[in-house]
Amino acid sequence: MQHMLIDTDTASDDAVALVMALRDPEVTVEAITVVAGNVPLHQAVQNALFTVELCESDVPVYAGLAAPMMRVLESAEKVHGSDGMGEIGLDLTGRVPAPGRAVDVMVETFLADPGAIDLVTIGPLTNVAAALLRAPEMAGAVKNCYIMGGTGAGTGNVTPLGEFNFWCDPEAAKLVLRSGMAMTMIGWDISVASATFDPAQAGELRSIGTPYAEFCVDIQAVLNDFALKETNLPGFDFPDPIAMAVAIDPSIAETSHRFVDVEIGDGQARGHDIVDWLEVTGHDPNVHVVTHVDRQVFVNMLTERLR
Ligand code: RIB
Ligand code: CA
Repeated sequence: MQHMLIDTDTASDDAVALVMALRDPEVTVEAITVVAGNVPLHQAVQNALFTVELCESDVPVYAGLAAPMMRVLESAEKVHGSDGMGEIGLDLTGRVPAPGRAVDVMVETFLADPGAIDLVTIGPLTNVAAALLRAPEMAGAVKNCYIMGGTGAGTGNVTPLGEFNFWCDPEAAKLVLRSGMAMTMIGWDISVASATFDPAQAGELRSIGTPYAEFCVDIQAVLNDFALKETNLPGFDFPDPIAMAVAIDPSIAETSHRFVDVEIGDGQARGHDIVDWLEVTGHDPNVHVVTHVDRQVFVNMLTERLR
């Protein structure tokens, strides 16, 4: 049994990653902590609670930080929809998160069971950075941190060099990458290469016919338009779900152990992950950077969990 805590800025692709974990009999989700990112915090909390309810799960959802560490929140409703869930009319209001602060829960969860629980981050790293500031020893207590973030060997999706999770809160990303945690980074390049769905592939996924499959495809309505018009992809892509697949089964990923840093500031390189592929910085490697995941292997893992 794998134990994990998931930190998410719950929008349409995050929700699919949550479904994958919540419906995997070999995974125990200790808690879901929510951070502002794709949508404001309150909306991300409602989206996470809706998804947990859909999966008939009792995993607690905790509200975290409502803004990046040193910046105002720049959210991405144009990518995922005003509600973050494709604007398909879901009732995403009125659910109540568990009492308590996400950052406190994150610290307490990992310190209570050192080395036993994985951390999966599928949003900006604000909560994680705050937890590490509060308790630096948490870095040594996390079994492995699987981070959806960065461009890897590819390009940015908010700017030419900025991938959203690192761009939204680059200071948090920099702090986390320097924390000493065991880390695996699944960049947006992996989603572009192995987790896009054109209309036929989306239809195949939806034809699984379960409420989970229909939900996971239908909430991508706005993301699909954005992908076709803005990011020149054949349809919506699933960065968070493919990161979750790697977290569930690391053997599906080829990786390269490299030194990775993040550019802060407000220039053109804001949030860019600087990967020392040629080992020219003299810094010790700190991140296992995923370089390849087979698309069919990912789709099979996703399909199994949507049935
Ligand atoms: O760049 C992709 C990431 O940004 C994903 O986590 C997506 O949900 C958005 O948060
Ligand atoms: Ca996300």
